[in-house]
Amino acid sequence: MMPARLDIISDAGLLELIGTEDPEREEALFSAARKARAGFYGQDVYFRGLIEFTNHCKNNCYYCGIRGANSRVERYRLSLEEILNCCRLGNLLGYRTFVLQGGEDPWFTDDRVAEIIGAIRREYPGHAITLSIGERGRESYERFFRAGADRYLLRHETANDAHYRKLHPESMSLPERKQCLYNLRDIGYQVGAGFMVGTPFQTPENLLEDLRFIEELKPHMVGIGPFIPQADTPFGNHPPGGFRQTLRMVALTRLLLPQALIPATTALGTISPFGREKGLMAGANVVMPNLSPKDVRKLYALYDNKICTGDEAAECRLCMEGRIRNFGFVPNMARGDYAGWGTGASTLPA
Ligand code: 5AD
Ligand code: FES
Repeated sequence: MMPARLDIISDAGLLELIGTEDPEREEALFSAARKARAGFYGQDVYFRGLIEFTNHCKNNCYYCGIRGANSRVERYRLSLEEILNCCRLGNLLGYRTFVLQGGEDPWFTDDRVAEIIGAIRREYPGHAITLSIGERGRESYERFFRAGADRYLLRHETANDAHYRKLHPESMSLPERKQCLYNLRDIGYQVGAGFMVGTPFQTPENLLEDLRFIEELKPHMVGIGPFIPQADTPFGNHPPGGFRQTLRMVALTRLLLPQALIPATTALGTISPFGREKGLMAGANVVMPNLSPKDVRKLYALYDNKICTGDEAAECRLCMEGRIRNFGFVPNMARGDYAGWGTGASTLPA
């Protein structure tokens, strides 16, 4: 039996579930996660339109294919008009959430980002606008919020300080990243944290720390995907993260935060043919099909063999709908805010 409340599970109990190879225990875990999700979201899976608007990045994360030092990537930036056209197409395809994701690109100053958010907000007053553009100061985050951004995705990547330093150059630090997350939450964003599974040097104890951090931060969204090597990075020769271990982390996260919005990530779909569907079967409830123009898709190569880089936005939208229906899920194109958002029923501390 799976305990109903994982927050009272001991570290040893969680470690056992993180590492279990027993298919029956895994299935019990996934089943408990589905049950926890059903109470808040039924069989609904929320669709978010992902717009990868710049692959320039000043950072040099050792795992990431668009790291600044990788001279083998062709760099691009979408113009305001190109971004708006992605939103228009997305809107026609039924999307009510746009996710603007990019590397940490200083060309997109606060002014420029605020301008983009404002332009989308004017055209789509009721849609959700999610930003995923990395670390900025509190004032910048406040400005984007006032301009109309609702949500912010910033994975913490790993909650263990020593491990964080093995994945990032010295210019980056875990305390700063956590501070960004607390700032975002404090400002009023729906906040997404998250981590990769199977990054080099990761231990089961590190994954336990990820779960404990998630439990403490109580983010509204949690992105979890397997590490996948990208050939032109320092980690290009490391093995990818485990598929089933990633599914177990999705399920454990669902049990810790039953109300969370958890994507079945593109990385999951990349390491296994039905990866995203199995992510949903392990407790995820969001998919993020790509809305970026087809000609730039391949250039947003965080890792090798990324799926969906040759498909038009409309194809991904339809493909994903068919895929999830085949597994008994119901596509939901609404904004899909965090359960209880705006009703005062949020579980976040005041
Ligand atoms: N494999 C898997 N995920 C990656 N990301 C970046 N590089 C990789 C990789 N090689 C993830 C990070 C980042 C998100 C946008 O993509 O977790 O936060
Ligand atoms: Fe993109 Fe299936 S979701 S092609």
